[in-house]
Amino acid sequence: MNQTEVTTAKEQKYTFPADFWWGTAASATQTEGAAFEGGKGPNIWDHWYEQEPNRFFDGVNATVASDFYYRYEEDIALMKELGHNSFRISISWSRLFPEGQGEMNPTAIDFYNRVIDELIAADIEPFVNLYHFDMPLALQNIGGWESRAVVTAYTEYAKTCFSLFGDRVSKWFTHNEPIVPVEGGYLYDFHYPNVVDFKRAVQVAYHSILSSALAIQAYKETEQTGEIGIILNLTPSYPRSQNAGDVKAAQVADVLFNRSFLDPSVLGTFPAELVDLLEQQGALPEVVQGDLELIAKNTVDLLGINYYQPRRIKVKEHLPHPDAPFMPEHLFDYYEMPGRKMNPYRGWEIYEKGIYDILTNLRENYGNIKCFVSENGMGVEGEERYRDEDGSVQDDYRIDFIASHLQWMHRALEEGSNVKGYHLWTFMDNWSWSNAYKNRYGFVGLDLATQKRTVKKSGHWFKQLIEEQGFTK
Ligand code: NOJ
Repeated sequence: MNQTEVTTAKEQKYTFPADFWWGTAASATQTEGAAFEGGKGPNIWDHWYEQEPNRFFDGVNATVASDFYYRYEEDIALMKELGHNSFRISISWSRLFPEGQGEMNPTAIDFYNRVIDELIAADIEPFVNLYHFDMPLALQNIGGWESRAVVTAYTEYAKTCFSLFGDRVSKWFTHNEPIVPVEGGYLYDFHYPNVVDFKRAVQVAYHSILSSALAIQAYKETEQTGEIGIILNLTPSYPRSQNAGDVKAAQVADVLFNRSFLDPSVLGTFPAELVDLLEQQGALPEVVQGDLELIAKNTVDLLGINYYQPRRIKVKEHLPHPDAPFMPEHLFDYYEMPGRKMNPYRGWEIYEKGIYDILTNLRENYGNIKCFVSENGMGVEGEERYRDEDGSVQDDYRIDFIASHLQWMHRALEEGSNVKGYHLWTFMDNWSWSNAYKNRYGFVGLDLATQKRTVKKSGHWFKQLIEEQGFTK
């Protein structure tokens, strides 16, 4: 039952279905630590840090992180305490296959078995993601996602995970935010291998989509009866104004950064506008015969939506010289809208209605695909200043952030959206790629020096929300 009860003249109770998925999401590199232990092979993050430590905030890497590798029992007990009924992990590809392919690491099998069993014993459903930005170094050295051989290695890795853990895991995800390694690694210089080249970026994107379809096909060929999906950061693109140029530019941004993955994953096709644009730029990827049929047949059962902030787009007034190598930003600028509500701690816009717009779009244009909010959250710099005398961060701003997103999600649900749950990013403050520990996101605060965990006010609030199947606001 998802109904809105009127409690006082001003306040409303937002009630969610009894089987709604409530929990949090995390990833291997950002939480496990033990980056050089337990037989794990290096991934691109370990390598990049060795090469360029200054790329990382305060020069901190993920060697220790929140030490989930050693403290998972304690952390899962705390998740249970906070009412979680589901939790997303990712498997570290180079922990399982230190070289990305070939020989497997038995210590890793044992570790992920223990984590999955511990979650199930705590009545927390494990949602397992296969790829969260962490290419094994050995595979990056043969081209990473640019190489078809890596797509094959990934498919083998996926099959191995299904056969090792699929008897207990029934929610699988092929990738998390696959556009981010494309943007970071091949367009905008914030992930390894920090190449800036549109054509190569397109090939990486195409191979990621192909690998997802191959993993889905492999899953369907097993006897397993769970669901498999992908997690996309859907970033609504709103035009800066209703001028035709801005409206068109916003559509192009949507095609490049949202629909490029959403359409093939859910509909099994690529947007015609995308194909035209790539053709014009001479940037169509290499496609092997049979690929497109495979992609068309192997769409997702379930879609994870990561939502943080929208894009505000205005058309570029001065196009570069026609011979300049093409980049998406030659077509439009991101534009900060004056007067918009901003996260004062991080500089990202807060636009709660974005979540409703995404869900409505999925309902109207994507067959109302079964979905859930797989990440939403608020990064806060300098959060320790809000600690009370017991060390618990009094993060009323985060409670407000979550509640106001949930209100819009609730409205979408009432209007018929097929949304099944909400996961916050993240359970415990963790290491965030080049930002390291700059912005804190968790329901649980982490003291890096002592590894002490302290539940924040928002964590207690979330527990109550789950107990009451909703909240009043
Ligand atoms: C998206 C990613 O999935 C995660 O790795 C990252 O740390 C969070 N968003 C916060 O930016």
